Amino acid sequence: MSTEREQFGSRLGVILAIAGSAVGLGNIWRFPYIAGENGGALFIICYVIILFCIGLPILMTELSIGRAAKKSVGYAFETLEPKGTKWHYFKYLIIAGGVLICAYYPVITGNILYYLCGVVDGSLLDKGISAHDQYQDLVVENSYKTVCFSLIAILFCACCSWFGIKKGIETVTKPLMFLLFIFLVVLCGYSLTLDGASKGLELFFVPNFEDMTLKSFLNMFHAALGQVFFTLGVGAGTILAYASYMKKGQSLFNESIIIASLDTIAAILAGVIIFSICTSYSISVGAGPVLVFESMLTIFKEMPGGHLFGSVFFLLLFAAAITSFISMYESTNSFMIDSFNVSRKTAITINTILVGVLILPACFASSFLADVKPFGMDIISFEDFIASNVLLVGGAFIFSLFCFTRYGWGMRRFIRSVNSGEGVKLSRFTIGYIKYAIPMFIFIVFVLGLIV
Ligand code: TRP
Repeated sequence: MSTEREQFGSRLGVILAIAGSAVGLGNIWRFPYIAGENGGALFIICYVIILFCIGLPILMTELSIGRAAKKSVGYAFETLEPKGTKWHYFKYLIIAGGVLICAYYPVITGNILYYLCGVVDGSLLDKGISAHDQYQDLVVENSYKTVCFSLIAILFCACCSWFGIKKGIETVTKPLMFLLFIFLVVLCGYSLTLDGASKGLELFFVPNFEDMTLKSFLNMFHAALGQVFFTLGVGAGTILAYASYMKKGQSLFNESIIIASLDTIAAILAGVIIFSICTSYSISVGAGPVLVFESMLTIFKEMPGGHLFGSVFFLLLFAAAITSFISMYESTNSFMIDSFNVSRKTAITINTILVGVLILPACFASSFLADVKPFGMDIISFEDFIASNVLLVGGAFIFSLFCFTRYGWGMRRFIRSVNSGEGVKLSRFTIGYIKYAIPMFIFIVFVLGLIV
């Protein structure tokens, strides 16, 4: 194993890589429709409060463990835990969450790549076939296409990781993130000029208290908590892996605020785009997983300039998805490098084969395996449920106990690590809040996740 750990080349590079991990399908595809289903503006207020009060401290735990240990989750606990304790056994649970997400995230990314190619060359914009039939063709009749495009997405990530952190990951994620924010702003501007945009904005931004009941409030609260975990990408060791390549220059509280703000801005811009377009074309935003593949494609076929708009939209979605997938992929690579002492190239080769096989159930979820319905869910929803509602929450709980209690790394070392460097520091007043409230909140999410 090399003695000197590689580092990101610049502060901007780290922030954009971590923001790239955070801004993904969760922001552009999941956030708008979850917000739509859960009362629009009220959900957004609740989401932003939870993001900054609960998500931020959890984000800091991963950042501080990674930066202090200079190791991924594969060896971070061993490096920091008090002698004789067994925190390192939890690493398998944490990496399991990351691996399970790798089993379906590249499949959706692959489908997006297929749509990007089809919209750019115009073949998917054919008005003679409905968007529904086109989607069925991809995922049911010709699901081998999903396999091919998912494998291309995986190989793309493998190539990025192959060249290391600075030359590979940083070189790719930095321009992609710039592109993503430029496209978000441009598409947002354009969608606001559409006729029905004001109706969309109203739905998205004006709170609706009328039908609020205790049950719907609890549902909304749980949806917002789940969204915060998924969008920040905490609990699976992904952020921890990136943080292990970070320099000590800035306070981690400072960096977390920037990352969480970029993530929220991306989600809100995406919400404005999708709500404005959908209301302008009288299409429901609650279509769920098929929203971008069916509803949005139908609109691109009809709208003037749909070819250009659709191409940019899918490029945006692809950039968001691929930078997130690169981060998950890197976390499993660095796990292998740190725990089994193998070279980066060996880890990438093994990982690529492993993920290439793991995606197969999700690729065939609507075709050969359509009848396989664990707990009544299709395979992708089931994998997502176990990963997001059980493993990510469990991972976040372990990180917080490790940082906040004296049985683990301890509050003093955590605060010192977070505050080392320039920028806004965490004040001592917040310690009591962080120490008791955060693990309790995570526990609530876990229980709510299983019963709601
Ligand atoms: N945050 C990403 C999104 O919004 C997904 C993601 C990246 C993720 N890394 C993760 C989710 C780690 C869970 C765990 O799409």
